Amino acid sequence: MPREEMKRPLIAGGGAGPRPLEASDQGTPVVGVLGSGDFSRSLTGRLVASGYRVVVGSRSPKRCLPLFPEEAEVTSQVEAASQGDLVFVALFPEHYSTLAGLGEALAGKVLVDVSNGVQVNLGGTSHAERLAAMFPESHVVKGFNTVSAWALQTGSRDGNRQVLLCGDSAEAKAAVCRLCRALGFVPVDTGLLAARALELENLPLRLFPSWRVPLISTLALFAFFYLYNFLRDVLQPLAVGGRGRAFYKMPVETVNVTLPAVALVTLALVYAPGSLAAALQLSRGTKYARFPGWLDRWLGRRKQLGLCGFACAATHAVYSLCLPMRRSARYKMLNEAFKQVKAGVEDSWQEEEVWRMELYLSVGIMALCLLSLLAVASLPSVADSLNWREFTFVQSGVGLAALAAATLHTLLFGWDRAFHRDQYRLCLPPTFMVAVPLPLAVLASRVALGLPCLARRLARIRRGWEKNRHLRFTLPEEEDECGGGGVRGGGVGNGRSLEDISNV
Ligand SMILES: Cc1cc2nc3c(=O)[nH]c(=O)nc-3n(C[C@H](O)[C@H](O)[C@H](O)COP(=O)(O)OP(=O)(O)OC[C@H]3O[C@@H](n4cnc5c(N)ncnc54)[C@H](O)[C@@H]3O)c2cc1C
Ligand SMILES: NC(=O)c1ccc[n+]([C@@H]2O[C@H](COP(=O)([O-])OP(=O)(O)OC[C@H]3O[C@@H](n4cnc5c(N)ncnc54)[C@H](OP(=O)(O)O)[C@@H]3O)[C@@H](O)[C@H]2O)c1
Ligand code: HEM
Repeated sequence: MPREEMKRPLIAGGGAGPRPLEASDQGTPVVGVLGSGDFSRSLTGRLVASGYRVVVGSRSPKRCLPLFPEEAEVTSQVEAASQGDLVFVALFPEHYSTLAGLGEALAGKVLVDVSNGVQVNLGGTSHAERLAAMFPESHVVKGFNTVSAWALQTGSRDGNRQVLLCGDSAEAKAAVCRLCRALGFVPVDTGLLAARALELENLPLRLFPSWRVPLISTLALFAFFYLYNFLRDVLQPLAVGGRGRAFYKMPVETVNVTLPAVALVTLALVYAPGSLAAALQLSRGTKYARFPGWLDRWLGRRKQLGLCGFACAATHAVYSLCLPMRRSARYKMLNEAFKQVKAGVEDSWQEEEVWRMELYLSVGIMALCLLSLLAVASLPSVADSLNWREFTFVQSGVGLAALAAATLHTLLFGWDRAFHRDQYRLCLPPTFMVAVPLPLAVLASRVALGLPCLARRLARIRRGWEKNRHLRFTLPEEEDECGGGGVRGGGVGNGRSLEDISNV
């Protein structure tokens, strides 16, 4: 990059603008950066734009001088380590051994380890701990490794603003936190080096960990429904002596029956665990008992499941809009028209079919609009701007309305086909009949949970009321009548027993 270009601030008009460099003389720490690579250059540019004095330490300062902004000093590693109050180590960890001679220069200083590994490290020592062992007199803070050089250049507005940190020295972490804020990031202290460094180093290497189960479930459902539709729509016509014209359905028609079925079942899977959680809370009479692990994990994956369902529904909508464009659809229409002409039919209008389609299309479009609202509300920037009630209203209320609309769309599409014999191909019922029971069950469970007697009890439980805490003392004589000295509803001393009156 030409030197002139490096002079321009990286974030045009961003934040409070560059602070005067004199500020560093009045207490802003001098920041040292060891290494002159991509990360070092982006960080230096950002620090300079925020008014810090930066000293870059390189093995060959002359060679990399033109790559850095004029305001930054590019010098030897020892010089940068000596001048910096806070020193970033922007080298790959395999080169840390080359820093061994800097121990004295770095003593008492805050060392920020920004390194990432090349593969997930499941049990070894973290790079940050290795650095801390190399420089026992420095205070190592792990951080910035989750921020890319790109994010440093473009500014925190273009992406995640969080900088996850860990370290053993509270003062060192506080210094790094101050620097983070000055650069426009939000520092998040995650704990001690031994407890967190490895986790932080593994974070950028993990490939969508929270998406694995939702994606696998969606793909498994897709495989199941595709095979089901292949048997019904492609193999069955061939089996009954068709003219070999069924395979053309595989890329569009079969996919467009599969995708909506997957979308509907996936959406039902988003709202099913809420019903199960409510049923468990009602039966236990408390919200303070842990859910089984599988339910906890299921509850925690609803966002990803919901977005997978949304993606399938949106793709189905696009496919549906393209159905009439296909050449196969045009030929079919021509053939139908020819047959009608031959049969002398002048008007092919069928009132019932017209209404069926008008209704199911309209309701389908509404379902997709509601789902789009949910998808928008799940964007972190939008979710952050909503309070708890607004978020719950959109995610729970609008989400259930979307599920209801999608189910209605499917039922309207199905109309009376469940009762037509010719719809049972190879003894397999129409696809919508396989997709619709789960959403219907989830919607029915929500109606049941909305009944005043259950809804009131659930609301009390969710406000902290507990069945077993609402106990009434009964007199000893009553106990004798009931079998003598037995304890009901939990043990209690002093010859008294407790009775569960939660259902009173
Ligand atoms: C397109 C799309 C986007 C979505 N985006 C998001 C998103 O950004 N964020 C998100 O969270 N969901 C998202 N979802 C999933 C879904 O909309 C929400 O999870 C929604 O809140 C579920 O509503 P609910 O009524 O089933 O359950 P909730 O209202 O969440 O829960 C019902 C009750 O169950 C209990 N409960 C729920 N979870 C737990 C738990 N972990 N531990 C203990 N008790 C619990 C609570 O008492 C709660 O009041 C998305 C779905 C779709 C389709
Ligand atoms: N790039 C990113 O987006 C990013 C994001 C987060 C974290 N990180 C981390 O930041 C660190 C640096 O990454 P980078 O992308 O800036 O790498 P890079 O562009 O390859 O720069 C690394 C620097 O290390 C020095 N170096 C190279 N070989 C060396 C050797 N054999 N011995 C000693 N020093 C050597 C060089 O500086 P000199 O020649 O000047 O000495 C080089 O410029 C890594 O640990 C990486 O994991 C990078
Ligand atoms: C713009 C929105 C939508 C449009 C235009 C639309 C259109 C259609 C069309 C044309 C069909 C008939 C397909 C065929 O003839 O094979 C259909 C069926 C179906 N749609 Fe939609 N749809 C929309 C949204 C949705 C949504 C949001 C869902 C569910 C989440 C959904 C689920 C279904 C299901 C399950 C079927 C039945 C598939 C079958 O069994 O053949 N649709 N839709």
